[in-house]
Amino acid sequence: MSRLCDKGRGGMRFDILTLFPGMFEGPFGDSIIKRAREAGIISIHIHNIRDFATDKHHITDDYPYGGGGGMVMKPEPIFACVEHVLADVLPEEEAPPIILLTPQGRLFTQQVAMELAQRRRLVLICGRYEGVDERVREHLVTDEISIGDYVLSGGEIPAMVVVDAVTRLLPGALGYAMAPLEDSHAMGLLEGPQYTRPAEFRGWRVPDVLLSGNHAEVARWRRQQSLRRTLERRPDLLASATLTQEDREFLASLGYRGPFSDDKREE
Ligand code: ADE
Repeated sequence: MSRLCDKGRGGMRFDILTLFPGMFEGPFGDSIIKRAREAGIISIHIHNIRDFATDKHHITDDYPYGGGGGMVMKPEPIFACVEHVLADVLPEEEAPPIILLTPQGRLFTQQVAMELAQRRRLVLICGRYEGVDERVREHLVTDEISIGDYVLSGGEIPAMVVVDAVTRLLPGALGYAMAPLEDSHAMGLLEGPQYTRPAEFRGWRVPDVLLSGNHAEVARWRRQQSLRRTLERRPDLLASATLTQEDREFLASLGYRGPFSDDKREE
């Protein structure tokens, strides 16, 4: 049915419903996703919604009732495809979330990625054209996710974004076990600058503290860089980050006076 269909081996399972299965081959055939699939940390199953249209021409979209521009994805093939995908879920298993990728969904953040990474299985429906028949939203889908306030041609790239962000959180997916915790956004702050060899490149030197071998000083410098960068680029994040007294003093030295996540709410 589809070219991209892994064997389930106990890892997290993604079922992706799409009209364009070919779009996934490149992004899922390289790098971390490829290795995670090969290691059985995840399995990816791509389903072509068109295969579930029962009419002669396998039609998956139609004109909107009431007129207006664009086409709407028909409900029958989407329901049939989801029901096929869920046919092997045992009664005692938790029902997987059925997620529609749409610009009208809740915003996808690192927190949402962490929430989804707790599940054993995700079903992702890629909407196309101008939209999806409302009955899919009302009676089939359990969650709707947007990857940002812009409109893409369909939910395929957003589904890839979700698979990537979730996979790299799973144990064993990244070589270095602590890495996901240090990512930008993981702790509610942006990551500071990173350097590698050479210590001097075209006259630009790596900050001395990083060459000092003083681990405590390096950790302090990194934390301060992370706070400084967050203040410069995403001050909105500081309001909800967990900050120590030392963090606050450092931010105060840069002119930041709050708000802080534990500010007392005004009644
Ligand atoms: N489909 C089209 N645009 C989208 C977006 N921003 N997020 C999720 N799905 C989409």
